[in-house]
Parts: sequence; C-alpha cells; structure tokens
Amino acid sequence: MKVVKVEKYEEVCEHASEMVLTAWKQHPQLVLGLATGSTPIGFYRRLVERYLQERLDFSGITTFNLDEYYPIKRSHPQSFARFMKEHFFDHVNIPAEQIHILNGEALDTGEECSRFEAGIDAAGGVDIQILGIGRNGHIGFNEPGTPFGSRSHLVALTASTIQANSRFFADPSEMPRHALTMGIQTIMKSKKILLLAVGEGKAEAIRLALQGPVTEAMPASILKRHPDVTLILDRGAASLLGGGVQDAAARDSQ
Ligand code: F6R
Repeated sequence: MKVVKVEKYEEVCEHASEMVLTAWKQHPQLVLGLATGSTPIGFYRRLVERYLQERLDFSGITTFNLDEYYPIKRSHPQSFARFMKEHFFDHVNIPAEQIHILNGEALDTGEECSRFEAGIDAAGGVDIQILGIGRNGHIGFNEPGTPFGSRSHLVALTASTIQANSRFFADPSEMPRHALTMGIQTIMKSKKILLLAVGEGKAEAIRLALQGPVTEAMPASILKRHPDVTLILDRGAASLLGGGVQDAAARDSQ
C-alpha cells in the first residue's frame, strides 16, 4: 500500500481530487466508487470547484456508491442518496442513469444487491474506489467479522457504528439498524482504491490496517492484498504509524 501523509484535511481532499481528475482526463468514461460520511465532503467540494472553474464535462462518468442505510427513504435527509445529491450530484453533469446507489427502499434486499453487482460488472468494474474507514476498521458498512469473500449484502450495524452515526439524526432512535453495502470482495475487485482518513480518532484503525495482521476482525487489513491502494492521511490519522510511514507501508504490503 502506498501511504501519502499530508498535514491537514484540505490537502487530503486536494490530493484525492487531483488523483481522480488525472484518471478522468485519461479516461472520461471513468467508473467511480464513492463513499459518504464526513471524510469525503471536502473531496466532493474540491471536485465541484474544479468542475465549475474549468468547465469540465463529467457526462461520461458512472458511479456506484458503497452503501446505504436500510430501510430508509431516498428522500430522508440522512439517506446517503440525499447526501450524494447535496454534496456532488446536484452540482455536476453526471446523468442520473449513470448513478447507482443501493436502494434503501427495496423490498427484496437480495435481489437489490444482485442487481447492483450486475450493474458494476456491466460497467466493466470500478476504476477508482474512494473509501473512508470506521474507527473499528470497517470499510463500506463491512463491520468486523464480515467474510472477505462477501459481495453486496444486507448488514446489521454494530453498536459503535450506530452510536457514531446516530448523532446525525434529529431523533437518534430513528437511525436505521441495518444497511446495504458493497461486500469486501466487491471493493477488492476495484482496479484502484483511494482510502481517505482524517483525525486522531482514525489513527488506531489505520495503524492496525497497515501494520497488523490481515484478519476479518479488521476489515481494512484486507487492502494489503490489493495491488493498487493509496492511503491519504492527515497528520492525526497517521499519528500512530511512527516516523517511517513510507517504510512501514512498503514492508507491510509485501
Ligand atoms: C460511508 C462508508 C463508511 C465511512 C466510515 C467513515 O459510505 O462506507 O465506511 O467511510 O464510516 O465515516 P466518516 O468519514 O464519517 O468518519
């Protein structure tokens, strides 16, 4: 895994958006895997700024989001569908039919997940997958213990994830207890992965993912087995890696 260590959040967002735009310039039909949460907000802001300033044309881009709460209405203020509209899709010209988000209103979740997976395959796979990381090492909503071989599926959220995210709901008891998520194998099939992590709260998860054993107890640790992963970390998220960030990354990816 390659580790890019920068000082602060804005630089994480700048670096990630630059990497995505460089890939998009080479291949305007880019297939992007996208994340929600607090971490990528500045990344979307930066992409939108560049889109407007440089009058870019994103009409060739296809997107697949990592996850969505279940059950939840698309129109719910805390749905990931709403989040993506507010932070990205309402501001750029990606055609609606090229945007794919697992449907939190689906009656048959198994069918919904199969349809989503088939969509990724039909698009030729994800070129660049953006990831955040949970304090417990989750990627997407693949909580500790999720089999590495999993495809998109329905998950029961852990108490720590419910606690971390319920603050965003006007009434915390409204927070859904389940979610639909890309599986670990789905994420690992992406050609390139960019994981963004910010703040000391993520430092232990980053340390374990990079320097600990590859284990289903730490979902992000599987990324060491992917051939093209870049971690973009601010000072806080990198704070437990020790001085030799690059050395540690190189050693652990072997
Ligand atoms: C979001 C997602 C989650 C988040 C993770 C970190 O689509 O899949 O894995 O990336 O929970 O969330 P933040 O960025 O809010 O710390």
